[in-house]
Amino acid sequence: MSEKTTDVLVVGSGIAGLAAALSAAREGADVTVATKAKRPEGASSWWAQGGIAIARDDPEQFKADIVEASSDTADPEAVDVLVEHANEAVRDVLLETLDVDFDEADGDAEFDFGREAAHSENRILHVDASTGKHVHVPFLNYLDEQDNVEIRDDTAALELVRHEGRVYGAVLESEGEFEPYYAGATILATGGIGDLYPRSTNPDGATGDGIAMAALAGADVTDMEYIQFHPTVCVDSEVRSTSKRSGGTAERDSPFLVSEAVRGEGAVLQNGDGERFMPDYHEDAELAPRDVVARAVKTERDETGEVVLDVSPLDFEGEFPDLAAKCEDHGVDWEDGIPVAPAEHFLCGGIEVDDRGQSSLDRLYAVGECARTGVHGANRLASTSLLEGLVWGLRAGEDAAGTPVETIEAPDLLQRDPELPEQFAREKFHRLRRVMDEYIGLEREPEDLTRAMAVLRRLKGEVDAYTRTRTSRSLYELRSAAVTSLLIARQAAENDESVGCHHLVEPDQETAEPHADD
Ligand code: SIN
Repeated sequence: MSEKTTDVLVVGSGIAGLAAALSAAREGADVTVATKAKRPEGASSWWAQGGIAIARDDPEQFKADIVEASSDTADPEAVDVLVEHANEAVRDVLLETLDVDFDEADGDAEFDFGREAAHSENRILHVDASTGKHVHVPFLNYLDEQDNVEIRDDTAALELVRHEGRVYGAVLESEGEFEPYYAGATILATGGIGDLYPRSTNPDGATGDGIAMAALAGADVTDMEYIQFHPTVCVDSEVRSTSKRSGGTAERDSPFLVSEAVRGEGAVLQNGDGERFMPDYHEDAELAPRDVVARAVKTERDETGEVVLDVSPLDFEGEFPDLAAKCEDHGVDWEDGIPVAPAEHFLCGGIEVDDRGQSSLDRLYAVGECARTGVHGANRLASTSLLEGLVWGLRAGEDAAGTPVETIEAPDLLQRDPELPEQFAREKFHRLRRVMDEYIGLEREPEDLTRAMAVLRRLKGEVDAYTRTRTSRSLYELRSAAVTSLLIARQAAENDESVGCHHLVEPDQETAEPHADD
């Protein structure tokens, strides 16, 4: 096995990982970014629609909005860090370094600031409703040109190299070959967990790899029960695509996000009886916090058969040309209303980190969606995820640079059989997603959470048995999914306070549904 070293190893290539790479490189460090994503669509950041919120005239109001959307569970100190560094990070990186062409306003204001749910003013920088790709692509291009940054595509991290609470790098896999990569500091930026659910706005491959690796190495992982479901995902598209989701290739429908910015411009939700219902659920109606809107959409779909987003109050095609085109590509006639349902969108918890992204393990950092900074508490405010990734990425990269590289013996993965029977992975992923969907979705019954834990523990045991004799990327993705799901189930079962995205309900005696473990 060859032995490679780098000053800073970043695992993942969304905005958080790229920001960490940028700031570590600016400090003079040699940086390696290992990403299993296929460029550029493989990272969740590429898919982000709404935009990036910044502090305009009243930073205190921005902080208050974040805390209120979280039902007062966000950590005020983390919120201070986010808001107080927001504008400088956006100016430095997005405007001056990457020259992102945010939509400009017609009048006096420099930018066309957008509005999304639970924001008390228009403060969101955006490029149409495709902000993510307009940030992500120039960011990759910029880093490609830096002499001290190497981006290794199609390269997965399988295990952390660690000993007694210190992390020394990771074992990377590329084209079936394994090699330990030693680093002064390792920064996990592996994104979210969309692949644990049947429907998600995340790209394929979001199996919680960084969270699982960190947890297995002994890092603190918290708030895993706070999983945000986006209320307006177009799920009834006529298009079926060939998905390469973890667990094997499969035909599936292709849900797509319809940004909250559309509601910010005046679109309203209507149930199957043609009635607007959000004013009955919350005084802010369609612009209520995301968890509230998602549950209302689910209830109305269950009771009236469907929910559509009526875009007739706005000039949809003029304001959101990319979304109008997407509807058309998917066979959805938006003039009749866009059929929507909630789908998994964002994990608010993750690897616990401080205000510089440092985890509870020495030399291990986490940034972006896989990290739990405390900013989101039990429910994230819209258009704060790219911002959090940017701010924490910059801080972590700066902090991580300058740590000397040391090498120790790496876990020996090489001699193992690389083959994983596809059927095994497909079956296990199918069972895992059913359990997550049925028991740990928008509404949770305490007994179901205990049941989910038992099923997932069994499933993890079956996967562990395979990892003792085999090594492959797909097996490790399955292991990550099993470890991460079990953490979610356990932390959800331990939390008896119904708050934000963790919404507990009493068992419905009347419905006798078949269970996911049957
Ligand atoms: C959206 O555009 O609705 C998503 C924005 C976000 O998740 O923050």
